[in-house]
Amino acid sequence: MPTLDSTLLPALDELKQKELDWKVYKLEGASLPHAVVNGKKVLMLGTNNYLGMSNHPEVREAAIEAIKKYGAGSGSVRTISGTMDLHLKLEETIARFKHTPAAIYFQTGFAANQGSLPAILQEGDLALSDELNHGSIIDGVRLSKAEKAIYKHADMDDLATKLEAASKASKYKRIFIITDGVFSMDGDIAPLDRLQRAAQAFGAYVYVDDAHGDGVLGEHGRGIVNHFKLEGKIEAEMGTFSKGFGVVGGFVSGSTTLKEYLHNKARSYLLSGSAPPATVAACIAALEVLEKDDSLVKKLWENTKYFKEKLKSMGFDTGNSGTPITPIMIGDSAKAKQFSAELFKEGVFALPIVFPMVAQGKARVRTQIRADFTKEDLDFALGACERVGRKLGLVK
Ligand SMILES: Cc1ncc(COP(=O)(O)O)c(C=O)c1O
Repeated sequence: MPTLDSTLLPALDELKQKELDWKVYKLEGASLPHAVVNGKKVLMLGTNNYLGMSNHPEVREAAIEAIKKYGAGSGSVRTISGTMDLHLKLEETIARFKHTPAAIYFQTGFAANQGSLPAILQEGDLALSDELNHGSIIDGVRLSKAEKAIYKHADMDDLATKLEAASKASKYKRIFIITDGVFSMDGDIAPLDRLQRAAQAFGAYVYVDDAHGDGVLGEHGRGIVNHFKLEGKIEAEMGTFSKGFGVVGGFVSGSTTLKEYLHNKARSYLLSGSAPPATVAACIAALEVLEKDDSLVKKLWENTKYFKEKLKSMGFDTGNSGTPITPIMIGDSAKAKQFSAELFKEGVFALPIVFPMVAQGKARVRTQIRADFTKEDLDFALGACERVGRKLGLVK
């Protein structure tokens, strides 16, 4: 009998040969603007910690106090004895922040999609999913018994054609439109207002994954639904605490029935230990910080606008991004990798995004702007981008 390793190695070797394997970037210390990666001091342009919330004093303090009072773990899954008063307080806080009647908290955003989608989608339903949706949506839809169809990225004509065909076929019990709110590789915002109107016209429901919109879009960072003034009109808004909110955890906000249904049906929630008290308390604190003060969100946008405008004026192509995710479009995978490596030498961390994460010929270096960058930090990053861009013939 061959060893397990010998059966795994061919696939691993293939990834390595094609240079598609993930290297380990070791972050030595906190996720701050000035970080140490693999022993080198860098300006960190490669995190989702858009607001620097992971090190906000009130968030850190809440985590420490929760450990003192509750200990390190919750001891169980939510439905047995792992629902602490903290978990309930967090769900109330999410619902208040999102202006929805209720919310349910999962251990991660991935778990939220993987648990909610197969629970909500039933046999006889149709799930219409944007072609660039996140892998956790793809997996969640795959786990469901619904029929699936993919519509072209943010393409309302293609979506309308598919909605029309589905409603004419009159064989589906329910139709769902499922979309990322902000697309993580391009930073573009889903046309949620038009999606919602299309859904209404065809009697479909909308499920939006606002992972990269939380803490970024809308008043006080309330997210994409608030941004488009669609509160009360979107059936399910999924989000994560691992990005703008600076902690970890996922959630779905919506009606009290949706919450109660997922509490009983979402398997990732039912069959996995609940989040530890320090995490939950930190999530509550992050939302409370944002509720009382939107200065971090404003600073994030100020920094984002400055950085994007300067990059564009240098001649870089930043694609369709409308958020702090700012791709520097390069095209060729090898060149994107070289761009990132040269930036690293200059003391700037930003990862190359290449096939199969994006289509062939669409390689880019993804930069992500933060609220806690100073103007000097941004100028430092811009200077490095310009020098490397010139060296590689991307800008004059
Ligand atoms: C669009 C989207 N949805 C869901 C997730 C998963 O969230 P989490 O990191 O909380 O598991 C991510 C994170 O990569 C994401 O970008």
